[in-house]
Amino acid sequence: MLLRFRSCRRASPLKRAARAPGDGGLCSSRVNDAAVHAAPAHVAQPLHAETLARFVDRLPIPSTLAPDGMRPDPVDPRSSLPYYRIAMRQIDQRVHRDLPPSTFWSYGGHVPGPTLETRSEQAFLVEWVNELPADHFLPIDHTLHGAHADQPRVRAVVHVHGAKVPPESDGHPEAWITPGQSAVYRYPNRQDAAMLWYHDHTMGIERLNQYAGLFGALFVRDAVEDRLGLPKGPHEIPLVLCDRIFRADGQLEYPTSGDPETPWVPEVYGDTTLVNGVLFPYLEVEPVVYRFRVLNASNARLFYLSRSDRGALYRIGSDQGLLPAPVPATTVTLAPAERADVLVDFRSAAGRTLVLRNQVAELLQFRVASRAERASAAIPTRLRSVERMPEGIAVKTRTLTLREYQDAKRRRMLMLLDGKYWRDPVSEQPTLGAVEIWSFVNLTEDTHPIHLHLVRFQILDRQLFDADEFLTSGKMILIGQRLPPDGGEAGWKDTVRVDPGTVTRIIARFDGYAGAYVWHCHLLEHAANEMMRPFEVVQPT
Ligand code: C2O
Ligand code: CU
Ligand code: CU
Repeated sequence: MLLRFRSCRRASPLKRAARAPGDGGLCSSRVNDAAVHAAPAHVAQPLHAETLARFVDRLPIPSTLAPDGMRPDPVDPRSSLPYYRIAMRQIDQRVHRDLPPSTFWSYGGHVPGPTLETRSEQAFLVEWVNELPADHFLPIDHTLHGAHADQPRVRAVVHVHGAKVPPESDGHPEAWITPGQSAVYRYPNRQDAAMLWYHDHTMGIERLNQYAGLFGALFVRDAVEDRLGLPKGPHEIPLVLCDRIFRADGQLEYPTSGDPETPWVPEVYGDTTLVNGVLFPYLEVEPVVYRFRVLNASNARLFYLSRSDRGALYRIGSDQGLLPAPVPATTVTLAPAERADVLVDFRSAAGRTLVLRNQVAELLQFRVASRAERASAAIPTRLRSVERMPEGIAVKTRTLTLREYQDAKRRRMLMLLDGKYWRDPVSEQPTLGAVEIWSFVNLTEDTHPIHLHLVRFQILDRQLFDADEFLTSGKMILIGQRLPPDGGEAGWKDTVRVDPGTVTRIIARFDGYAGAYVWHCHLLEHAANEMMRPFEVVQPT
């Protein structure tokens, strides 16, 4: 395939404006950071979500799943492990009092799926069962890798995002199963307390399967977390956020390019946000400190969360667990797949209402009671020690570009990691146990949340560079200061925002298991169109 590089940066504003809407080549950091929730124009019968009555539905809390008994441990048959059976099924679920139920694909009958909970070191088994219908209800693009017309239309594979798992249980994109099949995965959970999440990862259609509702939360607990006396039980609330587009009849709408042969669009932004599966819910709280475990499960949208009274949100954890100390912030930024562990102190808001916002959009109302039934947890001053990984222990630095191209044959853009397609030979082969620095050079105008399976990492820094110079001469001219990660990113991560025009560096130890994994952009439309690559952890020789 002939690729002609198209530089967004050098396109004149006029040229940009002249590009027809729906032309795949959106250079879209503007879109990507869009403050406005505008209804997409091409939806025949759009729901005008902004006209819905606000705060009439109670916030649902996904139920915590109890195991369906114990099963012999395949690794050590003398012992047994908790066993869960989770079926993927099509369901109808009401997202708002005034709308008819919407069709979703669910894990276990609800969107989000049930919450899984375990202790660090407590392994468990999950049998993921595909009971989905025979046909997909969202528009498959058969020109995308892995989704060709000779493939079954309904395929599913589950990945636990952030989990350290052997490759055979990681949910490799090509390890999908069809309706009627199931797969038993073993999760060792040898990792620190953190909010992980499970979601579909099927080659070529993960963006559709996740949009349809295939995601849920998983909490790993440990003794360090126990000792902190953080809010728990009814005072610890998961908030799973995802933007969606609905039609007036309450059904999900997934936008297309307008060309039935190549319906893929470069990003999907909904005009409204589901919070635990509901639009504009409310939550009754006591005037005490609460702990919110927030996940951005959107296909492409970044959230910029704040309290309507501009009060503090205390970040106590990032993707892979607790921070060294709470970080008070007025805004919490979350790219797709990122998580935030946040304390909110309602003690000074007794008898009032507050709203959790994404920029100007209202997401969730808090109704603070005038009196507390129980004493409040305190906001701890120290959390967990996070030793910084010194750069010097890295045995290798990989420089990997994020770059946008024009796919001349399909007349649409695509983005590649290090200029390579999914099918190209594996090029990242860290040795088991080795520490490496991965340096992402973003030549596009999008923020890309880059995620590595298997490992947790630390963000070293971000630095601006001259992208035009790099594109013309290949010379790397760094500009200004190296910016350290922001306070909320100063712990362990598994997904990193790689901002436009920056070199973003992470450091990771590739320990755990050898074998085949993947790394990719977590904007699901990007990942589906080649912004995903294999990597392989190899045994030391
Ligand atoms: Cu959240 Cu490869 O996934
Ligand atoms: Cu993952
Ligand atoms: Cu991307």
